[in-house]
Amino acid sequence: MIAPVEIAGIAKSLPKKIVSNYELEKLVDTSDEWITKRTGISTRHIATDETTVSLGSDAAARALDMACVDKNDIRLIIASTFTCESATPALASLIQKELDIDNCACMDLSAGCTGFVYALITAASLMETLHINCALVVASEVLSSYVDWTDRATCVLFGDGAGAVVLKRSAKAQMHYPVMSGTPDREKVIILDKEIKAIPFGNSSTTEPQYLKMKGSEVFTYATGVVEQTLKKLLDMCGDTPFTKVIPHQANEKIIDYVIRKMDIGREQFFLDIDKYANTSSATVPIAMCDAYEQGWLKKGDRAALVGFGSGLTCGGVVIDWTI
Ligand code: ACO
Repeated sequence: MIAPVEIAGIAKSLPKKIVSNYELEKLVDTSDEWITKRTGISTRHIATDETTVSLGSDAAARALDMACVDKNDIRLIIASTFTCESATPALASLIQKELDIDNCACMDLSAGCTGFVYALITAASLMETLHINCALVVASEVLSSYVDWTDRATCVLFGDGAGAVVLKRSAKAQMHYPVMSGTPDREKVIILDKEIKAIPFGNSSTTEPQYLKMKGSEVFTYATGVVEQTLKKLLDMCGDTPFTKVIPHQANEKIIDYVIRKMDIGREQFFLDIDKYANTSSATVPIAMCDAYEQGWLKKGDRAALVGFGSGLTCGGVVIDWTI
């Protein structure tokens, strides 16, 4: 069971440095034309002095301001990331420290690009179990540290950034139909192995630093299938009150074009901002939700589906009634 909750505040935080496709032409054998035509990406923000902690804390603080919630009313922080600079403490605990929140449960959730949607559902479930009134859900990623900047097939696709929402218990449920799924990645289509260090009792050699590796066309096939299935499932569950807007994980505009061709949903019903930010993994959904709200595309009373997909292979979806 998930608690009856609403999104009471939302914010994003992006590194100040913007890198265009033209700048990448100087690094690898690529072109602005190839990148925009195949992905829809024009620019991405890349962390210079920012970290997952600084970006996540900034987004969280702004979301709290917007929600007019006292930071000490937050009893749970879930942070979605697989690129945090610290293995322990968790990113959520580091955000708690940055925001100086007295007493709350903190944990990270790692589910690749699906992480934010999983985290939202997990937070709403724990709010029910633990009788919590206010929670923070943050996604913060600095993928640029894990990208091989000599590999044109991956380095053009990713960016850095964070998004955060404040979840508040509400009189009427405004989040519905959580869907979470996963299928084994037998072909290793998205992987980021950790560096293995030599130890006296086992491995005698240290591995090279590891980078994010992806088999693009296999991920594309998985993504198009699972996004279509998830949206159909959510539409079925919505019954007579279907969602009219979709905020999908922003991995490649072509994935959305494909889903649109297969389903009876218009292009104007999908929010896309991949051109500006590229794929910021689990942060794309809250960043896009924030942009959609700030641009007036997502309005009070709208019913929207969020759908995330990514490594694992994982997928998650949920329907939100927008109240702000
Ligand atoms: N610039 C120029 N040429 C390139 C580039 C580049 N940046 N990258 C690849 N190419 C070349 C390839 O070498 C290949 O050349 P060849 O035909 O001479 O061998 C050609 O372009 C076609 O390569 P493909 O990989 O077949 O290109 P495709 O059309 O499949 O597009 C892409 C690749 C954009 C990665 C696409 O497959 C995709 O978006 N996949 C999904 C990615 C995704 O959704 N990721 C989300 C999950 S990531 C996560 O969870 C962390």
